[in-house]
Amino acid sequence: MNLFIDQLHITVPTLYTPILSIPKLFIPSAQQVAILGPSGSGKTTLLNAISGLIDLSANQLLWDNTDLSQLSANKRDQWRFEHIGIVMQDFHLTQGLTALENVLLPYYFLHGTSPRGVKQRAVELLKQMNFQRIESKTEVLSRGEMQRVSIARALLTHPNIIIADEPTASLDAENSEMITALLKELVEQAGCTLIISTHDQHLAQQMQRRIYLQNGQIQYEN
Ligand SMILES: Nc1ncnc2c1ncn2[C@@H]1O[C@H](COP(=O)(O)OP(=O)(O)OP(=O)(O)O)[C@@H](O)[C@H]1O
Ligand SMILES: [Mg+2]
Repeated sequence: MNLFIDQLHITVPTLYTPILSIPKLFIPSAQQVAILGPSGSGKTTLLNAISGLIDLSANQLLWDNTDLSQLSANKRDQWRFEHIGIVMQDFHLTQGLTALENVLLPYYFLHGTSPRGVKQRAVELLKQMNFQRIESKTEVLSRGEMQRVSIARALLTHPNIIIADEPTASLDAENSEMITALLKELVEQAGCTLIISTHDQHLAQQMQRRIYLQNGQIQYEN
C-alpha cells in the first residue's frame, strides 16, 4: 500500500512546538524504510500516526484511498487490524497467556477462532525466529524473547503493511541479524510495505530508504 502524508502536525497540550511536523511524505507500496533519529526525535510518534493509533483530525494521512484522519478511533482500529502488522516498542503482550496464545490473539479477536492452519503458521514463525518456549507465559520471558513473540504476532495475518518500532532493540547481534533477514524475506515474499524505526545502523542499511528525524522534522534522507 502507498502512504501519502500532506501536512502532518502532531501537537500536545503541554508543548508549544509540535512533537511531529511533516509537510509531505510519500512511501510507495512495498518500499522498505528505516526511520532514524535521536531519542525523542519523533520516531514512535510518526509510527503511531501512520498506524492510526492517534487522532489525526487536523491532518491528512492516506494509505491508498483510506484517509485515516477521516476515520473514528473505532474505524481506525478496525482498519489497522485488517492491514497492519504492528510491533510496538514495549511489545504490548498479554500477561497470563502463553507465547503462542499471544501470537494468535489478534487473529482470534478478528475471527473469533484460530484454526489449525493458523496455529501451525504461528508455531512455524516462532520456530523460524529461533524461539523455543511457545508454551511459556509471556511474563517469564526475556525482553529478546518478548520481542520475537511480538514480531511473530505482527506477521501472522499476512498484513500489507508492517510497522515495527525498534524491532531489534532487545536482541543480541545474532538474533538481530536473523530477525532482520526474516522480516525482509517475509515482506519481499508478500510485497508488504515495511516501515521500522531503529537506532541500529546495520538494520537501517538493509532497508531501501532511510529517513532521519530531528525535533519532529525530517532532516534528510538517503
Ligand atoms: N503524549 C505525549 N505528551 C507529551 N509529550 C509527548 C507525548 N508523546 C510524545 N511526546 C514527546 O514527543 C517527543 C517524541 O517522542 P517519541 O516517543 O516519538 O520519540 P522517539 O524518537 O521514538 O524516541 P526513542 O528513540 O527514545 O524511542 C518526545 O520529546 C516525547 O517526550
Ligand atoms: Mg520511540
